[in-house]
Amino acid sequence: MSVSTHLEESERQRLLDQYAEIAALAGALAHEIKNPLSTISMNLELLTEDLNEGDIPQRERMVRKVSTVQKECGHLQEILDDFLQFARVGELELTESDLNQVVTEFIEFFQPQAAEYNVEISPHLASGLPRVKLDQKLIRQILMNLALNAQQAMPDGGRIEIQTLSLDGEVQLVLIDDGAGMNERTRDKIFDIFYSTKSGGSGLGLPTVRKIVTAHHGTISCESELERGTRFQIAFPVADR
Ligand SMILES: Nc1ncnc2c1ncn2[C@@H]1O[C@H](COP(=O)(O)OP(=O)(O)OP(=O)(O)O)[C@@H](O)[C@H]1O
Ligand SMILES: [Mg+2]
Repeated sequence: MSVSTHLEESERQRLLDQYAEIAALAGALAHEIKNPLSTISMNLELLTEDLNEGDIPQRERMVRKVSTVQKECGHLQEILDDFLQFARVGELELTESDLNQVVTEFIEFFQPQAAEYNVEISPHLASGLPRVKLDQKLIRQILMNLALNAQQAMPDGGRIEIQTLSLDGEVQLVLIDDGAGMNERTRDKIFDIFYSTKSGGSGLGLPTVRKIVTAHHGTISCESELERGTRFQIAFPVADR
């Protein structure tokens, strides 16, 4: 090993250690913020109750202001939960799995909520799909994040098509919606951390999806057209090839 390679290796290790330390700190920080935040939130709720009970002039204005702060607290809590979820994707619990089964169970779970928003879910699952090594809990997370995005892109209702197929030594999961779609500028940024076009969005949904896919040695791509809809395609390598 040459001297320069050796230096590069130790520099690489130093950066890796530094990264791990910062990641652990960020996770701990998020946890630390969560507790006082829930105390603030709970006290705001009590304050609203007190305000509603008392005969206070300008009560409505005060309740409105407290409600605004409460909403922002809720937003911060969601960001922290999404952040911790993103940070937690690390070691996978892999089991040889039938992707169709994971998808079917997810649809059963998600369908009632989708129906409330006039969103129909249409599964097209290939038969005889090879088994793949998956962390099933994280695959459910992928399906949830993609399906929620699709639902949010169809405020007047619509259809989400979920396909599975086997192609070129890979098992694919495809999710198509006929919602609002995206322009090219947005599509180029969807995997950026904290990028969101939604008022209450944390912008961690798709970065988490990508992180989970990459941890499975898979790939993800997205095609989208404004006012036509969006298609996400994920490919997992088949087990034991
Ligand atoms: N199916 C879709 N149709 C249209 N736009 C989408 C779709 N999926 C994602 N996007 C765009 O990508 C952005 C990033 O998505 P992502 O899921 O990462 O964050 P988010 O949905 O905004 O917030 P959250 O963290 O709550 O998921 C969205 O704000 C939206 O602009
Ligand atoms: Mg999202």
